[in-house]
Amino acid sequence: MPCIVVVCGFFGDTGKGKIISYLALKDKISVAARAGVGPNAGHTVVYGDKTYKVRMIPSAFVYEKCRLLIGPGVLVDQNVFLSEVDLTHAGNRVGLDPQCAIIEPRHIETDRSGHLASEIGTTGTGTGPCNADRVLRKAKLAKDMPTLQSFLTDVPFEVNAAIDGGENVLIEGTQGTYLSLWHGTYPYCTSKDVTASAACSDVGVGPKKVDEVLIVFKAFVTRVGAGPLPGEISWEEAERRGWTEIAAVTGRRRRAAPFNFELAKRAVMLNSATQAAITKIDVLFPECKNAKSFSDLSMEARDFIRKVEKEISIPVTLIGTGPEVWDVVDRRFE
Ligand code: IMP
Ligand code: MG
Repeated sequence: MPCIVVVCGFFGDTGKGKIISYLALKDKISVAARAGVGPNAGHTVVYGDKTYKVRMIPSAFVYEKCRLLIGPGVLVDQNVFLSEVDLTHAGNRVGLDPQCAIIEPRHIETDRSGHLASEIGTTGTGTGPCNADRVLRKAKLAKDMPTLQSFLTDVPFEVNAAIDGGENVLIEGTQGTYLSLWHGTYPYCTSKDVTASAACSDVGVGPKKVDEVLIVFKAFVTRVGAGPLPGEISWEEAERRGWTEIAAVTGRRRRAAPFNFELAKRAVMLNSATQAAITKIDVLFPECKNAKSFSDLSMEARDFIRKVEKEISIPVTLIGTGPEVWDVVDRRFE
């Protein structure tokens, strides 16, 4: 498995952080390259007795031998980046591409006013306005920033060299397929494509170098901000089912709906996914909490997984059974 791309098949917040941190430790990932939009993402990693919320540094930081890179397609907020370098104690392993564009205070101001705030309900992290400036070729790049000089490295070169050398490489996508600017619910979407092809482009890897595309789904669907959510239930109903979640970046309530087989199937197509992960199975089936093997799951849970596999026509290899990194059923070894 030299090169695996990890993406989300719904609207983000499906637990990529947890799955990626697990893969980093389990598969001894040598190089993790962060793709996606920028610090609008929030990946939660629960490792040991600590909960980390990372918005820029790859979730693979928990594996201490992993090199942590941020590709040139990713927007960088210097404050968020530097505070996460402190948080993760991973500064000596972090590399940033000189061509990453820099989010400035005026981008954040624009993102928190006008139609972006009131109609789209963005994360207010400045990513949309910064991508607009990048398209207009007005954005500043990481190579121009004195504070970032010590982190600069040729990310595409490092990632490709690691793949060519047969090392395990993970490309970390962000957001979710239906937040893609091309394939999502426009205009209620993010500011660029976020499918697997875009993730590869973000870090400078061509389509022939990818071995696996792992698509992450949650056992139910959530979305934050405006836009369609088929089958949406009320917050009160979500409370009754235990599906209530608060967004990691914005602190907003996440809207919820049952698992959507149609969306899942289309997301597999759009990402050419080869395997899937399903997280939070313990929220649908509490008796499965902390299970570590497929046979430990209840019959209802196993039936649900089999139904998903039948609908999406790819294997569900990883099943999340709790928040901690090791709360995973890993069917690759069963
Ligand atoms: P933006 O990406 O901040 O411009 O926000 C556009 C839309 O994408 C809004 O509905 C956000 O809530 C949503 N969004 C952006 N990033 C994420 C994410 O990482 N998880 C979930 N929703 C996100
Ligand atoms: Mg998130």
